[in-house]
Amino acid sequence: MRKLQNKTVFITGGLSGIGRACAIAAATEGANIAIAYRKSGVSDKAMKEIKKKIPKAVFIECDVSVFAKAQKAIETVVAKFGTLDVALNNAGILGESNKIGDMTEEEWHKVIDINLNGVFNCMKPELAQMEKQKKGVIVNMSSIFGKVGFIGSSHYVAAKHGVIGLTKSAALEYAVEGIRINAICPGFIETPMLAKAGISNHEDAKKHIIGLHPMKRFGRPEEVASAFIFLACNDSSFISGTALEIDGGFLAE
Ligand SMILES: NC(=O)c1ccc[n+]([C@@H]2O[C@H](COP(=O)([O-])OP(=O)(O)OC[C@H]3O[C@@H](n4cnc5c(N)ncnc54)[C@H](O)[C@@H]3O)[C@@H](O)[C@H]2O)c1
Repeated sequence: MRKLQNKTVFITGGLSGIGRACAIAAATEGANIAIAYRKSGVSDKAMKEIKKKIPKAVFIECDVSVFAKAQKAIETVVAKFGTLDVALNNAGILGESNKIGDMTEEEWHKVIDINLNGVFNCMKPELAQMEKQKKGVIVNMSSIFGKVGFIGSSHYVAAKHGVIGLTKSAALEYAVEGIRINAICPGFIETPMLAKAGISNHEDAKKHIIGLHPMKRFGRPEEVASAFIFLACNDSSFISGTALEIDGGFLAE
C-alpha cells in the first residue's frame, strides 16, 4: 500500500523546486495532485514537464497573496476530488537583499504578502474544509530562517518565523478536530530560487553558503520531499505543531 493512496494533495508553488519535488513524490505515493501556480512564475517548459511526470495532476492558477484566489483554489480542489486530505503551503519568494534601512516598504510588503499572508490565505479555507471532514494534514514551508536571523533578509526571516508561529497556533486550535499541522525548515536547497539569488551559480557565494552547512553541500529538493511525505502520511500520526529541520546540520552549530 502506497503512503498517500487516493489522498488529495494540494500544493502551492508546485511547478518548480521543492514544491515540484513534493508533487512528484506524493504522486508516486498514490495521491491525486492539485497544483496552485502563479501565472507570471511559470514557463511552458516547466508546465509541460510536470504534466508528463504527473499526467493526472490538476493545475489551478492562484496568486496566494490574494485571499479570494486561495479560497477559490480550495473550492476547485474539493469540487474536483471531493476532499482535501493534505495541503502543502509552499509558494514563496526570497525578495531583494537589503539592510532594513535600505529596504523599501514595497519590498517588505511583497515578501510578507506572499510568504506569510499567503500561508494564512491558504490555511483558512483549507482548515474550513478539513474541519468538515474531521481530518486533514497541513504542512507549511518555513526555513532555517524561521529559526535564526540572516543579514539582508529581514522580510524573509520575519515571514518564515511567522509561518512557524502560525503553524504552532493552528496545531493547538485544530488538534481535537483531527487535523495535524506542521512546518518544514529547509537549509539551502538547490532550486531555481538559489540560482535567481546568484547563490548556486556563483563560485564564491556558493562556497560560502555551502560552508555554513556541516554536511558541506546544498540539500536536494527530493530530500525535502521525503520529509514532506513523512509529515503528510500516517507515519507521523502523533506529530503536530513541530517545525522539522532538513538542513544538513545548519541549525546545530
Ligand atoms: N531553496 C531553498 O534554499 C529554500 C530553503 C528554505 C525554504 N525554502 C522555501 O521553499 C519554498 C519553495 O522554494 P523553492 O526553493 O522551491 O523556490 P522556487 O522559486 O523554485 O519555487 C517557489 C514557487 O513559488 C511560486 N510562487 C511565488 N509567488 C507565488 C504566489 N504569489 N502565488 C503562487 N505561487 C507563487 C513560484 O512561481 C515558484 O513556483 C519557498 O517558500 C521557500 O521560501 C526554500
